[in-house]
Amino acid sequence: MTDALNTPPPSAPAAQAPTGGARIIAITSGKGGVGKTFVSANLAAALTRRGLRVLVLDADLGLANLDVVLNLHPKITLHDVFTGKSTLDDAVVKAPGGFSVLLAGSGMVEYSRLTPEVRDEFLRIVHSLVPRYDVILLDTGAGISDVVLFAVSLAAEVLVVATPEPTSLTDAYAAIKVLAMQQERKQVRVVINQTARPGDGRAITGQLQQVLDRFVSTQSGHPVRLLHLGDIPSDQAVRDAVMRRQLLLTTTPGCPAALAISQLAGKVEETLVGKP
Ligand SMILES: Nc1ncnc2c1ncn2[C@@H]1O[C@H](COP(=O)(O)OP(=O)(O)OP(=O)(O)O)[C@@H](O)[C@H]1O
Ligand SMILES: [Mg+2]
Repeated sequence: MTDALNTPPPSAPAAQAPTGGARIIAITSGKGGVGKTFVSANLAAALTRRGLRVLVLDADLGLANLDVVLNLHPKITLHDVFTGKSTLDDAVVKAPGGFSVLLAGSGMVEYSRLTPEVRDEFLRIVHSLVPRYDVILLDTGAGISDVVLFAVSLAAEVLVVATPEPTSLTDAYAAIKVLAMQQERKQVRVVINQTARPGDGRAITGQLQQVLDRFVSTQSGHPVRLLHLGDIPSDQAVRDAVMRRQLLLTTTPGCPAALAISQLAGKVEETLVGKP
């Protein structure tokens, strides 16, 4: 509690989001376990196939698990770069899908808190990565902790992942509300994962928008606008791929969830990449 109070609140994105170079997209959620890491890894693979230079940064600093999903066993992590033990170049590794990753290492209590050192190092690393890529995806932790909000504040675009479950939607609403009020976000992209029927995601996004319109506007009085970027159906092949620690786009490229990810990549490239 005291730490949260002593730490300056994450500032508005414009204040610290690097300009030029890679488009930084934060993939975040209110509730945990909704599919952020699965989406980050497979979206990165799909964007790579489209010819883009992509890096995924495991921004879930306390409880990283991108390495698990990609079956990587990093010897060097963000931790070593933070402490000066390794260089950034040594910590960036190639993932099976051909994209680059910067892994965080799990169980580091010191990173679950946003100290000024973590803040500065994180910012420095992101700034030096920006010129080298077209897209940087930040796979953040769930919720509204200061580490998550800080990571999101570095991104030009926020993509909130939610499932149709009421608990996930309530938490997504809470997270979007904080992003609107604290970071002056005027638009937030939404991906509804694990849908049961086509069209569900659009309807759910519409409902979320209605609640936001009634109860939330940014500090400057602007409404926050949700942009529905796509749905990913619930698909057993996703669970199987995660169990095998492989990309869905490799194990079953033709399954419904993989097709949805490819479509999402098209939308991301079209709407988010290469924009000023
Ligand atoms: N479209 C889907 N269909 C079926 N299962 C899915 C789908 N998306 C995700 N899952 C299941 O949900 C699990 C959790 O996904 P993931 O680890 O990506 O969530 P997360 O949001 O990153 O979690 P955390 O908040 O802990 O970081 C996966 O291991 C997978 O089994
Ligand atoms: Mg995750």
